[in-house]
Amino acid sequence: MSLGRPVSPPAPADPLPLPAQLPPLTRPSHMQFTDLKAQYAALKSDIDARIQRVLDHGQYIMGPEVAELEQALAAFTGSRHCVTVASGTEALLIALMALDLEPGDEVITSPFTFAATAEVIVLLGGKPVFVDVEPDTCNLDVAQLEAKITSRTRAVMPVSLYGQTADMDAINAVAARHGLPVIEDAAQSFGATYRGKRSCALSTVGCTSFFPSKPLGCYGDGGALFTDDDRLAQAAREIRVHGQSGRYHHTRVGVGGRMDTLQCAVVLGKLPRFEWELQRRRQLGERYSQRLQSLAGVRTLAVRPDRDCVWGQYTVFVDDRPRVQEALKAAGVPTAVHYPRPLHHQPAYAAQCCPECCPVSVQVASQVLSLPMSADLTEADQDVVVDALRRAVG
Ligand SMILES: Cc1ncc(COP(=O)(O)O)c(C=O)c1O
Repeated sequence: MSLGRPVSPPAPADPLPLPAQLPPLTRPSHMQFTDLKAQYAALKSDIDARIQRVLDHGQYIMGPEVAELEQALAAFTGSRHCVTVASGTEALLIALMALDLEPGDEVITSPFTFAATAEVIVLLGGKPVFVDVEPDTCNLDVAQLEAKITSRTRAVMPVSLYGQTADMDAINAVAARHGLPVIEDAAQSFGATYRGKRSCALSTVGCTSFFPSKPLGCYGDGGALFTDDDRLAQAAREIRVHGQSGRYHHTRVGVGGRMDTLQCAVVLGKLPRFEWELQRRRQLGERYSQRLQSLAGVRTLAVRPDRDCVWGQYTVFVDDRPRVQEALKAAGVPTAVHYPRPLHHQPAYAAQCCPECCPVSVQVASQVLSLPMSADLTEADQDVVVDALRRAVG
């Protein structure tokens, strides 16, 4: 399976600013936050054929598509190993289990993320230690990392939020000084690049999610972890099948963590268009940012010059978010909030950190607003979003 069958590129982004005189607002009733139907329509024959092949051979668990996908994704990321698993959450859990995390161990991570990042640490009896994020990228602020390392720290788990990787070389350098492994939570950044390398191949382990709305999604739950370390890869392969190193030989405690053959087949069916989709996401993200960055009342996310963003979400910062979100809804524009509260302000994680900690995470959580984004978003719909946002903040 090769990635990147030639697909005609989309028309170049139109650099014209919106007219100052606004025409009557059009109200699309169809606009999707993530347009999976259009993607399926474009890939129907590839995906249907892939699914049919699984139905024909009937190996629903660990069928040949599992190894085929792992080979394709290892090559795509430049990692030595890819281990597919049941979800992005499972990838993080298995990574920590493969690294032998024990009760009482500390793992440093960001509080401004989806709960899964910290959940897996707590599930294993560990303690998430939160380091605040940068205000312009919402990724872990490496300048604050070293001060949080203690004799109990066992790993550092940065999150590559919204489709842009954290400053992985700087994080790796701090971790290396203390002999710590680094796990990239790349659930939102699969396909992104950092200094010429792919997300997931930037540290000890990279974990991603194939949740349907992610940059590379399946039609249910799925995920994968990536590593160059043979021992960790072997451990992860065993842990995902209840710790078995051979049939009914349980070498270690594991989980039921396999990715279904059918879901692997769906991802394989999506690969021929994936490079094009990444390109399209980057282009649409830049087009949004060009149009929004001079808008008073809207702040756009910074993308660092040494990396790109594949816009797992296209997220901006606004004041008075409830009012803006309501106005966009009235205009037929779906939005979402990733995430309304940092984890240390969530009841389940409040005990892990004081409420005054990580003030930047608290601040950005009150302002972030995600706009419709997918490779199949049309420029016309994007203009409607920009127009509606301009009115909402105006
Ligand atoms: C940052 C982050 N980490 C982990 C996950 C968990 O992935 P999954 O939903 O596949 O378990 C997600 C998914 O939303 C995520 O966004």
